[in-house]
Amino acid sequence: PKKLVVAFAFCFLYCALFGCYVAHCQFTSPDGHDAMFVDQFYFNKVLEVQYNSSVGKVVGYTKNGIKVADKLNGDEGFMKHQIWKSNLCKRNVQMFYDGLQRKSIEPYVWLRSVDAADSRRPSMLVCSAYNFYPKQIKLTWLRDGKQTTTDVTSTEELPNGNWLYQIHSYLEYTPTPEEKISCMVEHASLMKPMIYDWEPSPDSGRDKIAVGAAGLLLGLVFSVAGLIYYKKKSSELLILPQRIV
Ligand SMILES: *[C@@H]1O[C@H](CO)[C@@H](O)[C@H](O)[C@H]1NC(C)=O
Repeated sequence: PKKLVVAFAFCFLYCALFGCYVAHCQFTSPDGHDAMFVDQFYFNKVLEVQYNSSVGKVVGYTKNGIKVADKLNGDEGFMKHQIWKSNLCKRNVQMFYDGLQRKSIEPYVWLRSVDAADSRRPSMLVCSAYNFYPKQIKLTWLRDGKQTTTDVTSTEELPNGNWLYQIHSYLEYTPTPEEKISCMVEHASLMKPMIYDWEPSPDSGRDKIAVGAAGLLLGLVFSVAGLIYYKKKSSELLILPQRIV
């Protein structure tokens, strides 16, 4: 099992002129069972006394610190308060992770093709899911509604570094016009699996040329019409003053 990063859930820092009081809650498991509460007193950057909930008592590290520790260990009120703070640490870890686990963020899915340079070679479809949480996700390729695992490669869930993840799945295929290809996404944030159908645009390059040519033709037609209209109008205007004269 992957080890969870050691995290400091909350930290309380209080520093006077030369004295310093630091409290922290340290844990490695999200259920908080190993949450450790530590209270530290520093003087001139030297650790004097420390309360560690896993030890359950105050330990002194300097001559003065040992004296203070002895006094605090005998103080029932102080010790009770330390136990209360340790429980708070544990509870807060649980609450922090419970809240996080209930949250889920829906992926943004993008299905696209990467054209092979050689048209005889198979093309590649890429199904990408971005910015989702939690990490667990399933991308499945469907060919005419049937799951396929052949010619499929997939990346791991890649962390974005902001708690969110992305994943990319690749399908190599030889394009046929009849076949329906879809990418199915299953994730905690989705009520049901989402299916994204691939809409092939055959020869998108030629399409673009056609659109451009149509635009050029339309522009030409309007230019010629405008020119004819202008010629007609200007000849009328030339005639007009002659009539007045
Ligand atoms: C508290 O005590 C535990 C158990 O002895 C130890 O592993 C941990 O390092 C201590 N924490 C600190 C901050 O000294």
